[in-house]
Amino acid sequence: MNKSLKINLIITLFISYSHGFSVVVDKNKNSLSSLWKQEQNHYQRIVSLAAYPPRKNNRGKKNSSNDNDEGGSSYDPIFDEPEGKRGDGRNWIEKSSPIGIGKLNDSTNQSSSKSSETDGNYDLGIDGVSFETGALSTRMYEALTSVALKRFPPGTTSLPPELDDVYKLYTMDITAKEAVKAALDQNGMELAVLNEDDPQSQDEGMWGDVDSIRLMDMDKEGSWQSDLYDNLDDAVEQGQWSPGQIFSFVVRNVPAKLKEMDISDLLAALDPEGEYRAEAKDKGITMPDEDIVSLKDLGLDCERRTKVAPMETYSVETVYKGDNTKGYNVMKRSDLLSDSRNDDGSENNDVLMHVMDSLVNHGCLLVDISDGGVSSLNSQQLTKMWNIADSFFDVVDNDEKVAKSLPPMGVSEGAGSPNAAVGFKSYSNGAMKFLETRSVRSTDNDSQSNTKIEPKEFADIIGTEGVLNLNRSFDLMCDIGKDVVRVAVAASNMEHDGFLHEDEDIENQQNEESDLPFISGLTFEEAELTGIHKDSEDPWIVAEKLSSDAALKLINDLIDDGRNKEDNKRQGRVNMSPHRLCKYVEKKDADGKKNENKEKETFGAHTDTSFVTIVPVASVSGLEIFDEAAGKWFRPELLARQKWESECKKRGLDAKKGYELLTIIENGKEVEVEIPWHSRYICIMPGELLQVSSRNEIPAAVHRVVSETDGDARISAPVLLRARAGMTMTTEKYFGKKETLGPLLEECEGLNMVEIHDRLQPSFYRS
Ligand SMILES: *[C@@H]1O[C@H](CO)[C@@H](O)[C@H](O)[C@H]1NC(C)=O
Ligand SMILES: *[C@@H]1O[C@H](CO)[C@@H](O)[C@H](O)[C@H]1NC(C)=O
Ligand SMILES: *[C@@H]1O[C@H](CO)[C@@H](O)[C@H](O)[C@H]1NC(C)=O
Ligand SMILES: *[C@@H]1O[C@H](CO)[C@@H](O)[C@H](O)[C@H]1NC(C)=O
Ligand SMILES: *[C@@H]1O[C@H](CO)[C@@H](O)[C@H](O)[C@H]1NC(C)=O
Repeated sequence: MNKSLKINLIITLFISYSHGFSVVVDKNKNSLSSLWKQEQNHYQRIVSLAAYPPRKNNRGKKNSSNDNDEGGSSYDPIFDEPEGKRGDGRNWIEKSSPIGIGKLNDSTNQSSSKSSETDGNYDLGIDGVSFETGALSTRMYEALTSVALKRFPPGTTSLPPELDDVYKLYTMDITAKEAVKAALDQNGMELAVLNEDDPQSQDEGMWGDVDSIRLMDMDKEGSWQSDLYDNLDDAVEQGQWSPGQIFSFVVRNVPAKLKEMDISDLLAALDPEGEYRAEAKDKGITMPDEDIVSLKDLGLDCERRTKVAPMETYSVETVYKGDNTKGYNVMKRSDLLSDSRNDDGSENNDVLMHVMDSLVNHGCLLVDISDGGVSSLNSQQLTKMWNIADSFFDVVDNDEKVAKSLPPMGVSEGAGSPNAAVGFKSYSNGAMKFLETRSVRSTDNDSQSNTKIEPKEFADIIGTEGVLNLNRSFDLMCDIGKDVVRVAVAASNMEHDGFLHEDEDIENQQNEESDLPFISGLTFEEAELTGIHKDSEDPWIVAEKLSSDAALKLINDLIDDGRNKEDNKRQGRVNMSPHRLCKYVEKKDADGKKNENKEKETFGAHTDTSFVTIVPVASVSGLEIFDEAAGKWFRPELLARQKWESECKKRGLDAKKGYELLTIIENGKEVEVEIPWHSRYICIMPGELLQVSSRNEIPAAVHRVVSETDGDARISAPVLLRARAGMTMTTEKYFGKKETLGPLLEECEGLNMVEIHDRLQPSFYRS
């Protein structure tokens, strides 16, 4: 492969996928995949050479008189005695011959092969010594029988003899399957299970045809002796195989596909010596996953990512709006609640995967606060907030006296941190106006009458009712943001086994790097069969629950929601998390020069030092997030609009109106209210503190605001969820075992949240 292509590939990998939760190489979609496709043969060869000296399999070709290339007329690597080294060279893999005995067939389109994409069928020879089928089968058998015994009356200690062979047969089958999975894995492939949901495809034998089994015994001199059987039944019945005895086998027509790869696997395969990575580094490209070992690195890397993000702008018509894959779906608000977790206290897997997919790959998660139109209270609340924001800017733009009355941006008195600014500021000749507001912590129980917001002059403009509405809108958005952080931190804690307290056995199995296939590599259904997922004492389930509980503690301790925290002795009087009202409007250049592009970057690319930034979807789009997976600027507000329109279509409503008419009861009377479409959606973007808290798994979203020149003004009202200033980071409490923390969290241990905030700023090091 050409060298510069390879370097480019590696750079692409780093830039686009460096933070991947897990990188799935999609073979059809993006350019990375097509590059990967070109690489595939090359890659497979590297791996095959390492694990499998390629050998020719002659079985099935009875006419072998012309076949001299293996040194013997009918040499068969699995049936002949090993030459020289034992265990090596006795495994092989090759594409199934089309005249094989398989039920699957490359050129056919039978129903069974439709549901899953395969790269064809493979024949494999598996040497039981090197794959340790003996030890593996013992574990499989024990797991199977322990589950099976629970179905018999209490006290039953062994299976009825008439069932024993059945369980042995099943054990042999799943052992062989696990060994094949491990062998495929060494070749960069994985089993293409026909259809996981189809119980029939889980039938014995459906994953391939085992056609020769050798039961191995060691004689007194230490040499292997073996007997050959044609199928598993014969091996069990006639050969008296029992778990623990090593067996070798040949399996044919195993449907396999290219593995969904991890970034590290990919890199190791493409660049085993690391020389290309070194070269890329010399060119000034930071390697995030490798190089972010301190908060300073993280801050600098965020700065770098904002700089390398493209400057081009796109119109509403041409800008990227996401697609129909899961990460762009809208999440229901209620699905994020901690009440929606599983009964055992672990996070709901579907929600977790959705949140991670969105945050890691696309830099944001869209949430429907009405749960798909089911409950309108939240969207009514946000409608009120939008009205306040609109009328505030109306007043400021039209009444100079009022505008002048607002204090300039400055640190709020007694704030407890120099980062707690409040006030008003206009930038770039009024193209961008910011009002930074903060709630004042209420210190007594007489809550309502005491709800306060700064700056005071702003509170005067919007009045008591306005202040109350902003308070409720903040709380609404804040709660959702906290839930998203909870799910993300729980995911990272789980992913890194932060709370896994397993016994020796499991630990060894997990850490060992060998050809030996593990029971933990079972498919979900098999794992259920063996009881791994069902047992409530399962260390993994316990770890999942603890991971989520710890994340819950984190959001309540560290995220400032404006409430008092009794044990925080150093908290200031205002909320560290601001609610910002913004107005963006781009005017034609004063010098009359025509812009080539109608769209302009009003607020340039940056990341936020927040846990998450919550942007309620505005009526005029303009927020753009650099979508790491797509490699493009993505406008979530347009995606939200599309989702709304398609919902209207389903419900038979007229989407063009742009609002929904609701009848509600207010003060005992029925009134009709208009709920603008966008009051239903909010967009959550990860910030730098979440990047730290997810052990660098979720990159802080690089985002910007783009405005159409002479277009409609965009009013926005984001909430930045920041950390409680006086709190100290106790990593064990929130993230678990020390050895799972990674360098970023290790650095945070014992620091207070202001120190962490400061260390993330590149300016902090540049005085
Ligand atoms: C073996 O194959 C060759 C051609 O492929 C054929 O001519 C020959 O007769 C075959 N021998 C036997 C023993 O079948
Ligand atoms: C494989 O598919 C081809 C084309 O449909 C067919 O001719 C052939 O008989 C099939 N082989 C088997 C073993 O089904
Ligand atoms: C695949 O299926 C289509 C429709 O069922 C059929 O027309 C076609 O002949 C099939 N192709 C093969 C190779 O079997
Ligand atoms: C708030 O309420 C609690 C319990 O009702 C009470 O103990 C506490 O003294 C009250 N605080 C203030 C400032 O009134
Ligand atoms: C809003 O008001 C409620 C009730 O007084 C209070 O508990 C909450 O902390 C307030 N929210 C903010 C952000 O201050």
